[in-house]
Amino acid sequence: MKFFVDSADIEQITALNDLGLADGVTTNPSIIAKSGRDFKQVVAEICAIVTGPVSAEVIALDADNMIAEGRELRKIADNICVKLPLTMDGLKACKVLSGMGIPTNVTLCFSANQALLAAKCGASFISPFIGRLDDINIDGLELIEDIRMIYDNYGYETEILAASIRNVNHIKDCALLGADVITSPPDVIRKMAYHPLTDAGLASFMKDWKKTGQTIL
Ligand code: E4P
Repeated sequence: MKFFVDSADIEQITALNDLGLADGVTTNPSIIAKSGRDFKQVVAEICAIVTGPVSAEVIALDADNMIAEGRELRKIADNICVKLPLTMDGLKACKVLSGMGIPTNVTLCFSANQALLAAKCGASFISPFIGRLDDINIDGLELIEDIRMIYDNYGYETEILAASIRNVNHIKDCALLGADVITSPPDVIRKMAYHPLTDAGLASFMKDWKKTGQTIL
């Protein structure tokens, strides 16, 4: 399973990349606004840190301008993936940009039918938003399961990029359900390493080791 970092925080992306835990990065207009940085500049910096795809989202709402913006964003770096909203215009832009060999991430997916359309339009990635569905009492993980089955039924190569991850259980469940990629806030990825029994076990090993009076170095 690939891990993308859902952030524009350079320090956090670098730290996770150094651990081999940043196979790519996703941004959206809210993440860019939160960074307080210039869009193209911060995305260029991210593209220089990670070797995998870096999603940069278009702002236009009509297909022609989405295509123009996508081509412009693609000039930033070779690992730019153009992020497009799941609207009819977004799908049209996806079809055109994908046809040009430009990687695409179709975002704001909340149904299996939307995911089916994105695959048919040649999307490289589909981004189902798990957390936002959970927020309105709809099971986000069920959507991942449905998309996995549909894509496997027909051999679609569009990768399922589980987004809107809110907790470590989302990541485990996405892995069990066969999502190709998760994109997660950096702190949730870090929390995956935590277990109280690990901390307790380590503390007791250290206590016993002290009694031996030995050193390794
Ligand atoms: C990633 O591509 C999405 O934009 C992001 O995961 C959305 O997360 P949120 O629902 O926590 O804003």
